[in-house]
Amino acid sequence: MPDVQNMSSAPQLAEQGAAARLADWMRTRSWAIAMTVAIVITVGGLVILETARQRITAEYETALEARDVTVQLSTLASQLSRLSAEQNHFLLTKDEVSAHAFCSTAARIRQSTQQLDRFYRSGGADSAELASFTQILALIEARIGAGAAALQHAAPHPLDLGACGNASDVNPADASLIDSTLTLLRDNEERRAQHALAASRADQRISTLCAAGLSALNIVLFILLFRNLGIQIDRQARVQRQLITQQEGLDQLVAERTRQLEALGWHLQAVSENEKTQLARELHDELGAILTASKMDVAWANRKLKDSAPEISEKLTRALANLDQGIALKRRIIEDMRPTVLANFGLVTALRTLGDEAAQRNNWTLELHLPADDIQLDEQTEIALFRVAQESLTNAAKYARASKVSIALQVGDGQVALHIADNGVGIQPADLKRTHTHGLLGMRQRVAARGGHFEIRRGVPNGTDIDVAMPSVSTATPSVDLPPATPSRTPV
Ligand SMILES: Nc1ncnc2c1ncn2[C@@H]1O[C@H](COP(=O)(O)OP(=O)(O)OP(=O)(O)O)[C@@H](O)[C@H]1O
Ligand SMILES: [Mg+2]
Repeated sequence: MPDVQNMSSAPQLAEQGAAARLADWMRTRSWAIAMTVAIVITVGGLVILETARQRITAEYETALEARDVTVQLSTLASQLSRLSAEQNHFLLTKDEVSAHAFCSTAARIRQSTQQLDRFYRSGGADSAELASFTQILALIEARIGAGAAALQHAAPHPLDLGACGNASDVNPADASLIDSTLTLLRDNEERRAQHALAASRADQRISTLCAAGLSALNIVLFILLFRNLGIQIDRQARVQRQLITQQEGLDQLVAERTRQLEALGWHLQAVSENEKTQLARELHDELGAILTASKMDVAWANRKLKDSAPEISEKLTRALANLDQGIALKRRIIEDMRPTVLANFGLVTALRTLGDEAAQRNNWTLELHLPADDIQLDEQTEIALFRVAQESLTNAAKYARASKVSIALQVGDGQVALHIADNGVGIQPADLKRTHTHGLLGMRQRVAARGGHFEIRRGVPNGTDIDVAMPSVSTATPSVDLPPATPSRTPV
């Protein structure tokens, strides 16, 4: 059974997949399709409008032409009536003026027939109308000729009727034939004019509908366009809000991590300082005692054996020298780990000693701006400032190629400021971004961990300037548990 189900569901799945792809394609291309349809509809509407306009123009021209021809046919009919009236008038009064009026009316009739002839022969009418008109042309000529003949007959003396054309006999039945044919042609033209007007009205309706349809389409398109624009603006605003929220979250995370790292750095430095202090104390107390006791014993033995065993005494003298070297080495190590001057005399003296020694070693001119009396600061702050000064002078000795170094310490307003400057080659911007060295990073961390501010920059016009500002009593509260602080002024 499951196999049968699988077989039947496979084509269904394929169909669903195709439908989903089609729906997807429609969704992604829907705007392109809608635009194409709108353009096609608009262009089609414009073509229909233009065609309708051209047809309306042609239909109006046809209607005007038909009306014109109708008027000309009516004029011809009235001219023919007038011709008959002037003929009758002459027959009754024998007034020659009437005879000449007859001729001038005949001339006008010929002009009218020529205009109409041009219309009928130019293709303005169908072949039956052309045949009818040709027929009445001959009849009209015959009618004029017969009239002229009648005038000559009735005249008391021969008349000059050359302008009337050739005189000829005419069948009176032909006159009514002319009238009825003219009426027929006039009716035809009136019908043609009405047809043209009706067609033009229909075309006008089509144009109106088409224009209304196009306007409605445009309105719909505008509505869709602005709606879509609104949706996009909303979406962008939403995305921007999300980005801002994410950014704020990331900023918070970075600030939190930075705070944690600073606290950790502070903790590690405190641990290291404490261990160094402890080790220095042990070295001083234990190793110092051992070395001093050994030295005293060896000196005693040396004094006793000086005369009796000069060879042994010589060895003991060398051992004494070695012990002195060991004691000196112990002092140096202790001094490095826990500066005795700092522990015993405070920061001002320690900075002065540090500066003097470094200036002596490197042949620097030293400028000191230190408080006259020693100052009492938080122990960790003192260590941080001393280490910063130590690393700054080490860096100056290593890289600056300076001839002059200045150290300044200022205390006031709960702040302590240390300024160290050299007149060397100056630190490069790339040096500030180094990550594999620890000097600058360590200084920065020490200061930040105590809630202070550290800045290093190229001096003007040359050299390097280091500025440190710290609260004279620590405000930083590390978030990690710290080992108990060592007592200050530890004897070394
Ligand atoms: N006073 C100075 N004058 C010129 N360049 C300096 C000065 N102090 C530091 N620099 C430059 O800044 C860089 C970074 O100094 P930093 O103390 O961090 O590292 P380091 O002394 O090279 O190594 P580390 O201190 O870790 O043993 C140095 O390599 C040096 O090029
Ligand atoms: Mg360094």
